[in-house]
Amino acid sequence: MLILGIESSCDETGVALVRTREAAVPELLSHTLHSQIAMHQAYGGVVPELASRDHIQRVIPLTRAAVEQAGVSLAEVDCIAYTQGPGLAGALLVGAGVACALAAALGKPTLGVHHLEGHLLSPFLSIDPPEFPFVALLVSGGHTQLMAVREVGSYELLGETIDDAAGEAFDKSAKLLGLPYPGGARLSQLAAHGNPKAYALPRPLLHSKDLEFSFAGLKTAVLTQVNKLGGMAALHAAQRKDLAASTQAAIVDVLLAKSLAAIKQTGMKRLVVAGGVGANASLRERLSAGAAKLGARVHYPELALCTDNGAMIALAAAMRLQSGKAQASCDYAFSVKPRWPLGFESS
Ligand code: KG4
Ligand code: ZN
Repeated sequence: MLILGIESSCDETGVALVRTREAAVPELLSHTLHSQIAMHQAYGGVVPELASRDHIQRVIPLTRAAVEQAGVSLAEVDCIAYTQGPGLAGALLVGAGVACALAAALGKPTLGVHHLEGHLLSPFLSIDPPEFPFVALLVSGGHTQLMAVREVGSYELLGETIDDAAGEAFDKSAKLLGLPYPGGARLSQLAAHGNPKAYALPRPLLHSKDLEFSFAGLKTAVLTQVNKLGGMAALHAAQRKDLAASTQAAIVDVLLAKSLAAIKQTGMKRLVVAGGVGANASLRERLSAGAAKLGARVHYPELALCTDNGAMIALAAAMRLQSGKAQASCDYAFSVKPRWPLGFESS
């Protein structure tokens, strides 16, 4: 089966092709991506209307490029998958509309995919793919969740953030340090040269004995610290590096402690880390070391597939179809789900 996947839930347009294989993880044939980050930077965050308009302009050329790179023709595609949610409604509608129109023109079925399912299955495309069952730590700009994943379609929510997501904590703290949106990756680059113990920042819910997270207080603590030092403009380079390192350490400490607690609680021996924050080098290093002490292994998506992309959508569709958990449909009436929890047996 040849599956085309389209991602357009937020500020990246991604299109990819995967081919299913007998008793093996589907093969990624091509993936094309356009990030809108530069466009949204001027506004300090994603502007939904601009995001939708940009997706409209990008999605067809990216689809053409993905098909060409894969060395196939559109007529050979067996199913067109698209991100159905969660995400920005207008942005989702672009991908869904194009997927359904294209499928109708080709007489092929479509399948709506959950964006987070895409993220959590994305490590299956890495050179070191996991095996079921595993604990998944989903850490993106909008979500922070721990899940017990037993098989495709079986996602039990173990805990999640009660306020800001980990990526949001990175981005909001980065903004307070004067870094452009989305500051997560930039903050972590600064942090590499700073002292993580320089400033005592809170580790919210670290000892809560459950698997819930809370990051909203952290940005306030960072703001208070910045103000104590005389405000953003007055920060010396060394202070910015130390603040970045201290912020990253606070976030990573909590993500690490809760992930290890989830491994112990479930008795599972594998941890999958997915979502944009999964690209964080310190998080990767500390999770791998911490899990090893529990006799568990950590699996990550390839760095290029940590943030939003079409490959994970095509892959999730392929794995759902292969496992019999979903059926593609030729009913081209589509809907999107801007809010869509994954913590259930998805059908
Ligand atoms: O998964 P993703 O691309 O989009 C959502 O679905 O939200 O995640 C984006 C998030 C942003 O908050 C970004 O700052 C963060 O991932 N991020 C990082 C790093 N790279 C991306 N956060 C920390 N360290 C990084 N290296
Ligand atoms: Zn995402």
